[in-house]
Amino acid sequence: MTPRIIPVELFDLVVFGATGDLSQRKLLPALFHRDLAGQIPPGSRIIGCSRRAMTNEEFAAFARKALEDHVAAADRPPEMMTRFLDRLHYVTADAAQDAGWADLGQVLKPEAGRIRVFYLAVGPDLFGPICDKLAAHHLVTARTRVVIEKPLGKSGTSAHALNESIGKVFKEPQIYRIDHYLGKETVQNLMALRFANALFEPVWNSGHVDHVQITVAETLGVEGRAGYYDTAGALRDMVQNHMLQLLCLVAMEPPTSTQADALRDEKLKVLKALKPITAEAVPTVTVRGQYRAGAANGEAVKGYLEELGSNTSKTETFVALKAEIANWRWAGVPFYLRTGKRLPARVSEIVVTFKPIPHSVFDGQAGPIAPNRLVIRLQPDEGVKLWLMIKDPGPGGMRLSNVPLDMSFADAFNVRNPDAYERLLMDVVRGNQALFMRRDEVEAAWSWIDPVLEAWSASSELPKQYTAGTWGPSSAVALIERDGRTWYEDQDID
Ligand code: BG6
Repeated sequence: MTPRIIPVELFDLVVFGATGDLSQRKLLPALFHRDLAGQIPPGSRIIGCSRRAMTNEEFAAFARKALEDHVAAADRPPEMMTRFLDRLHYVTADAAQDAGWADLGQVLKPEAGRIRVFYLAVGPDLFGPICDKLAAHHLVTARTRVVIEKPLGKSGTSAHALNESIGKVFKEPQIYRIDHYLGKETVQNLMALRFANALFEPVWNSGHVDHVQITVAETLGVEGRAGYYDTAGALRDMVQNHMLQLLCLVAMEPPTSTQADALRDEKLKVLKALKPITAEAVPTVTVRGQYRAGAANGEAVKGYLEELGSNTSKTETFVALKAEIANWRWAGVPFYLRTGKRLPARVSEIVVTFKPIPHSVFDGQAGPIAPNRLVIRLQPDEGVKLWLMIKDPGPGGMRLSNVPLDMSFADAFNVRNPDAYERLLMDVVRGNQALFMRRDEVEAAWSWIDPVLEAWSASSELPKQYTAGTWGPSSAVALIERDGRTWYEDQDID
């Protein structure tokens, strides 16, 4: 199947933090792939900006290295590399100094009518100062957009303050808050599955669904990001944003259209309907863990505290929790969420378990009848499995087996799955905010998370230890087993 490419309008994209990790690993490769696909019109410019003094040529050499490291050799023919590198420019500017901003203005000025995107691939403490400089140097035009990355605050209060400082310079329709999970192909497939098929919607409610599990498991540790990670932890790093966004897409009412605000209004309603977790409930419905030394991908690895070089950190590298949505559709249906670093497999999936059949017509010889499960695998091996009971083939009486209807997207479509950033960057240029978080969503998500963070920080308990390479602390198993349920384990995952 050949993907359909619709070129975007001419644009200038300024990347602040252009020499940083995100720019090297994600932004430059994503832009290169879109250029390769013919989506970026000739004349569009990518302007790197950071404190580091560099010439255009040095930045091009830096970008070449980033592409060599992060784009498969077969995907980067030399003439395409040259074409892409020719689009790059570089300006040295520091958010804390005045120098450099006039230079940026000079580079941008000749194309003042174009779509202009400022991508702030920098820490959140620089969001406000950079926005102020952009305003002071009159660099914000009517067609300008700003993109910000998480962490969008450390709590509701700090998120509010960040939103206020950005909001002084940019209006909400100009602000693109990235949650890269929303740009993942399979996450959007969730919407296709729910709203382009008549089959699921009638059973997508508490009358038919027993519970939902959302797992985002990683084998990696904190990978040189311990400085940031230790101030965040898994609840802020993964649950407040990515996992709650997934929960919203599973639980929301059908939006009236896929227009940005129609979609975001529905997600917001889910966030507001999340049953608050009280301080008294925190010990029973949440589990926080921290990995100790163990193994990952067959190799011995250090524990979190050793990686960090500190013995005192209470930062969690694993979270499991039970969420409930207090509305008509979902009352009484638990949503179990778990995420962690240094787990045995890299897998992200959403599992919807339906209620058991009301009565079995089969005798004991048929074996147990498992409830139907719909498994949406976000990564790796993207696809959908619907577990059904069928009769074992052949003679010998009626014996039943639980077997998946299994669709792997790679086998079905045979195309490269674009990285989430490719779609999201092009959506910014197109002016489509559907896959970006609105201010009220971010703040509503924090309102639900804040009491858990507060209860954890007030507690003298330490995170439960788990050995790297296992599925988290045993209390995460107890959390779901107390309700008579178990975490879903796919036979395909080792
Ligand atoms: C990021 C987190 O937002 O998402 C990381 O900060 C995490 O800690 C990453 O590893 C996971 O993203 P993906 O796309 O690899 O699942």
